[in-house]
Amino acid sequence: MTEASTRRDFIYYATASAGAVATGAAIWSLIDQMNPSADVQALLSIRVDITSLDEGTQLTVKWRGKPVFIRYRTEEEVEAARLESPDSMPDRDARNPNLDPGADAADDNRAVPGNEKFLVMIGVCTHLGCVPLGNGAGDYGGWFCPCHGSHYDTSGRIRKGPAPENLHIPKLSLSEDMVLTLG
Ligand code: FES
Repeated sequence: MTEASTRRDFIYYATASAGAVATGAAIWSLIDQMNPSADVQALLSIRVDITSLDEGTQLTVKWRGKPVFIRYRTEEEVEAARLESPDSMPDRDARNPNLDPGADAADDNRAVPGNEKFLVMIGVCTHLGCVPLGNGAGDYGGWFCPCHGSHYDTSGRIRKGPAPENLHIPKLSLSEDMVLTLG
């Protein structure tokens, strides 16, 4: 990871967090006053313009108090993700609420539909909740959680270490003009 990309990721993160925290505070006071209805839950979504994201880089935003990784994968990363069958992996579940329950962890079931170079995941290790390192980290070129040594591949699937599940995909949609909606 270059110093420039580290600084840029941080700026993205800080900017996105500020917006998300402000929205969150307003919504929490509403939720305090009444049981959250489906309408209020629907407000807990954010929109992120990803048109300026470069191939091979990752943007991290904060959503519902958690980091979300938005990775614009390289051709090589997508190829590596598709090379192996999920049948031989520790967690065969796609962990993708946008699909029917039981969908397997093939890369097609994890990447953004129609834009398979984009991968969007909740950046919380499924072992004990640390935030994994990205940008090609770990033995599988994806993400690595240094807390207890969990290695995730370029599709965010757990391949080695104590984490029991693949990194979770959030509820999402991507518009034609590349605005990502989370929630
Ligand atoms: S919290 Fe990630 S490996 Fe333990």
